[in-house]
Amino acid sequence: MDVAIREAEASDEGAWRRLWAGYLAHLGATVPDEVTAHTWARILDPASPVFCRLAVADDAIVGFAVCLLHEGSWALTPHCYLEDLYVDPQRRSRGAGRALIEDIRVLARTKGWNRLYWHTREDNPARRLYDGFAPASGMIVYKLTP
Ligand SMILES: CC(C)(COP(=O)(O)OP(=O)(O)OC[C@H]1O[C@@H](n2cnc3c(N)ncnc32)[C@H](O)[C@@H]1OP(=O)(O)O)[C@@H](O)C(=O)NCCC(=O)NCCS
Repeated sequence: MDVAIREAEASDEGAWRRLWAGYLAHLGATVPDEVTAHTWARILDPASPVFCRLAVADDAIVGFAVCLLHEGSWALTPHCYLEDLYVDPQRRSRGAGRALIEDIRVLARTKGWNRLYWHTREDNPARRLYDGFAPASGMIVYKLTP
């Protein structure tokens, strides 16, 4: 499968929302529609630090990566947090997930960002893919509801 990666555009909303719904179902998560709409609006807003890269194969959008750029206290240049990564279950194991991560890595290198990082569950089978990029950092995430 030939995979091309590109920036999301306004006309991609329907395809992205279908994949987004599949991603949330995979995670067993519920995100209110107003949040999904806000996320999509930020993706399209060039002034927002949120961006989305799409994997395209056979003229179809088969996966996405939603990222967030943010400042860090240990660096002069931004960190890129890969928050959401998903490939259509019918199109998996054909390189789209790897191509999305590689694409963001190239963007980070080109733009001089300080680091690319992401979180995952300890038991996520996708770690077979991730371990090929870098060893897991060993950091544990704590979450509070304020
Ligand atoms: C993670 C994900 C984006 C990878 O997409 P992909 O297009 O299948 O990835 P690639 O084809 O580039 O790489 C596939 C390799 O990743 C590993 N891998 C990824 N997901 C896997 C899974 N669920 N089970 C087993 N291996 C997996 C394997 O090593 C696999 O190689 P193989 O096909 O030769 O066995 C996709 O599995 C997915 O959307 N998963 C559900 C959502 C998710 O977990 N997102 C990440 C949250 S941190």
